[in-house]
Amino acid sequence: LRLFSGSANLHLSQEVARYLGMDLGPMIRKRFADGELYVQIQESIRGCDVYLIQPSCQPVNDHLMELLIMVDACRRASARQITAVIPYYGYARADRKTAGRESITAKLVANLITKAGANRVLAMDLHSAQIQGYFDIPFDHVYGSPVLLDYLVSKQLSDIVVVSPDVGGVARARAFAKKLDDAPLAIIDKRRQAHNVAEVLNVIGDVEGKTAILVDDMIDTGGTIAEGARLLREEGASQVYACATHAVFSPPAIERLSSGLFEEVIVTNTIPIAETSRFPQLVVLSVA
Ligand code: R5P
Repeated sequence: LRLFSGSANLHLSQEVARYLGMDLGPMIRKRFADGELYVQIQESIRGCDVYLIQPSCQPVNDHLMELLIMVDACRRASARQITAVIPYYGYARADRKTAGRESITAKLVANLITKAGANRVLAMDLHSAQIQGYFDIPFDHVYGSPVLLDYLVSKQLSDIVVVSPDVGGVARARAFAKKLDDAPLAIIDKRRQAHNVAEVLNVIGDVEGKTAILVDDMIDTGGTIAEGARLLREEGASQVYACATHAVFSPPAIERLSSGLFEEVIVTNTIPIAETSRFPQLVVLSVA
């Protein structure tokens, strides 16, 4: 078994390697003057079971391309099995056409990864579970929820209501609620007028006087979760926690998340978070 890391989240890859009691394999990564990427695996992997860790986080196109080049390099080096370990699957939200003449980019990414030569994919908390079906190779879909739930349980919060920030996240929130002693569920009615602009309208369910835990797969610009928190406060929630696996944190997420709306914002390390983007309410848990 050999483990290699792309450049997107070296820290997570190192933690995984430590957990497995092995070293990351040697690999050269370079960028040419014109912006093209170069990868060379620096040991024989002939006949090996190779795992390549690379979340396709920002800059998403570079990291995705680097993963494809790594897969291609391993295939041409006669690896026996190549598993692309993608802690955060970029482009996952483009999983269907919502208007004419659009791409289904999540499927395009699946085609590219498969065509490059991956035999298996492992990804965490896909935006929609159906993306597994975009691949005709084995796909392991794993969850950050055990790590997030362990932390929430350790806090011994009382009078909890688990809140889905939109209708699409209800199944995820319900699974959380079940593990939190069958806590009640509330749902926020969210509309998107434009890409990256979230407008929340109503809360379905009772949140007054309760500790609300907003659960989402990702926090990108923070609009969904911050608008949700604002509404929950207006509806009388006494405390608001936000909980998400993927901390995409595109601007202005940090401003929105650190503006006093949340007791804590709990995320995992599938995507690296720069020191400068950390704030006192932020809790980062490891999924290594
Ligand atoms: C949407 O369906 C997702 O689950 C997230 O709620 C959304 O992508 C978060 O984006 P933002 O933080 O920019 O509102």
